[in-house]
Parts: sequence; C-alpha cells; structure tokens
Amino acid sequence: MNGPAPDPIDRLVVQLDQAINCRALYSATHPNVLRATERMVAALEAACDARHEAAITFLAVGDDVVVGREPLGRGSLYVEQFVHLLTRRGVERLTLARGLTADECRAFVEPFAVGGVPAGSAHVEVGRVKAKVKEGLEAAASHEPLSSRSLDEAREAFTAFRRDGRGGLRRLEDVVWGLIEGLSRATREVIPLAPLKDHDEYTFVHSINVSLLTIAQARAFGIQGDKLHDLGTAALLHDVGKLKIPLEVLNRPGRLEGEQWKIMQGHAELGARHLCGIEGCRPLAVLVAYEHHMRYDGVPSYPQPRQARRPNLVSQLTSISDVFDALCTTRPYSKARPRDVALGVLAERAGTFHDPFLVESFARIVTESGLALGDGS
Ligand SMILES: [Fe+2]
Ligand SMILES: [Fe+2]
Repeated sequence: MNGPAPDPIDRLVVQLDQAINCRALYSATHPNVLRATERMVAALEAACDARHEAAITFLAVGDDVVVGREPLGRGSLYVEQFVHLLTRRGVERLTLARGLTADECRAFVEPFAVGGVPAGSAHVEVGRVKAKVKEGLEAAASHEPLSSRSLDEAREAFTAFRRDGRGGLRRLEDVVWGLIEGLSRATREVIPLAPLKDHDEYTFVHSINVSLLTIAQARAFGIQGDKLHDLGTAALLHDVGKLKIPLEVLNRPGRLEGEQWKIMQGHAELGARHLCGIEGCRPLAVLVAYEHHMRYDGVPSYPQPRQARRPNLVSQLTSISDVFDALCTTRPYSKARPRDVALGVLAERAGTFHDPFLVESFARIVTESGLALGDGS
C-alpha cells in the first residue's frame, strides 16, 4: 500500500474543499469567499514548491484521487468530499498550475459550489469524462431537466438502491444533482414534474416530484450547493419506508382503514430505520423520513414521538411538497386534483399541519413558475 499523501497536497485539498463550501454558503464577493480563495492559491504555491513542480494534477480513478502515483489518504473527510466533488461534475483530471490568480480560483470554484460545468482557464485545466454526469449536464443545458433518459436513469438508481443501499445511495445522490442542475438551468422558471406512466411506479415518480418541489422551495430561500443537495436527497428518500409496505396495501383502491392504515402509517418509522442502517446516509434524510407526516402545530399525527414537537424545517418543506404532489397525481384511491384545488387544500391546512409562511411561499412558487408535465396539470 502507498503511504499517506504529502502534507502540502493534503492542505491543498482542504483549502479547495473549504473554498467550495464557502462559496456554497456566501455570495461570490463575500470577504469569506475572497479569503478562502486566497488561501487556496497559497496552498497551491506551497504544494508546487514542495514537489518542485510547476503544476499539480489530480486524477480521479474510481473512488480514489491520485496525485503522481500516490492516492490521497483514504478515510479523510476532506479527501472523500474532494473525490465526490470531482466525480459528480464528471471531472477525471484536474491540473492547477503555479500562477493561479484569486479571480481564476473564484471562477473555478463557482460551478462546484452552485452548479454548472467546470471550465479551464490560463492556470486551470479540466479534463472531463464523456460519462453519465456529463450527459446529464448536457441534457440539463438543453433545457430538458427531466428527459425520459434522465428519468430512466433515476428509475435505475431506485432499483439499485433497493438492491444495494450504499451503492444505490450514491446513484440517487447523482440524480439529485441532476434535478438541481435542471432547475437552475431551465430558461423559464418551470418546475418540470415527472409524468406518471402507471400506478406501479407511483412511489418512484412521487419521490422525484417531492424532491424537485422541495429543492424549488429551498432555492427560493437562497439555499444552494451541498445544503440544497442534502435536502433534495432527504426529500427524495422521504417515502423509502414504503418499499417495506406490502403491495396489496400500497396499491389498494379506496381509503385504507383499520389494520391496513396502521401498516401504511408505519412507513415513516420503517423508512427512518432503514436509512439509519445505510452507510453514508445523512442524518437529515433519517429525520425527514421519520417526520414528514408530523404536524406543524405539534398535534399528534404519526409517528408519535415521546414528546410533541415541531418537525425540522426540511421535514416541513417536504411535507408541503408531499401533500401537493399527492393531490395533483392520480393514485389508486383518488383522481388527480387541479393545481389550484391542491393549493386550496394546503391553504386550509396552513397553521395546523403546515407553517402558514411556508405555505404562502410555496403557493407563490407554484403560481409564478407553472409546472411542466405532471399528471394533474
Ligand atoms: Fe409518506
Ligand atoms: Fe410521500
């Protein structure tokens, strides 16, 4: 086995991650972003000095990043994030050359932090693979955020998730980046809801739509970058517990009652437990799976925590998307309702099930954006 990567390279990776994280949190001209990019430039100079090189080249190979012949130290959170940053943007080779300016550095960091295609400059060379990620970005650039191909990929990722929680989770995370890209690149402010082909795939299509609607809500509050991605992933996985519910209960026509209703209610807790057992799954996803049917006013719904409490903000956003999409889509027991009727139902639930402020914001997003496709539209 190779030993750990030299310190200056480690430091460069840390500064790279920090510059990207910082830009995800603050505006491009914020002093914190300026400082972070200056630190990255200094770390690059130090790494070039230490290796007596004019440039440092990173190669993404599978789950590793290699510099020279040495893979960067595995197990470091910074390295893990760096690998993930490169692979999700389809970057297989990255060269940073001595002389990189703070301005170039800010331009380079931008797409990694807020979405877009990484580009080269005088001191940055970006080699991108012709891979799914790139194709996904190109599809997004052609304003087809939910093309049938990206839906097929998402469907496959769901199937992979059923088979192999951890590996499938990685693919689902890429799906969420695709959704974010799609939303941020649409020429008009359109939320491109997925069409429903048949009832069997209700949970899949519903999950995609709830993720899209939750990302749209969060974006309206200025949330970007990794935080937006975490929240979109949590929303995508909100109903994962339904995979454990027998199909005869899940697809039963008519309202569920008695024992069957109890079984269905169990999906929230089952989902949270399932996600707890998947390595790499973020606590936010566990929380949203558990809380997405809990009420804003703390009146017991399901599941019932020991102490009544208000659900987390992301659970509340997911809950609004959840109710809206469920109403707008034909399901085994109910026909699709028009969009304004669904918004009316949400307005009635404001103050009890949902935070009135969030409902108002959601209604504004939906009416101002228009929803493309969608079974009920
Ligand atoms: Fe649910
Ligand atoms: Fe749901």
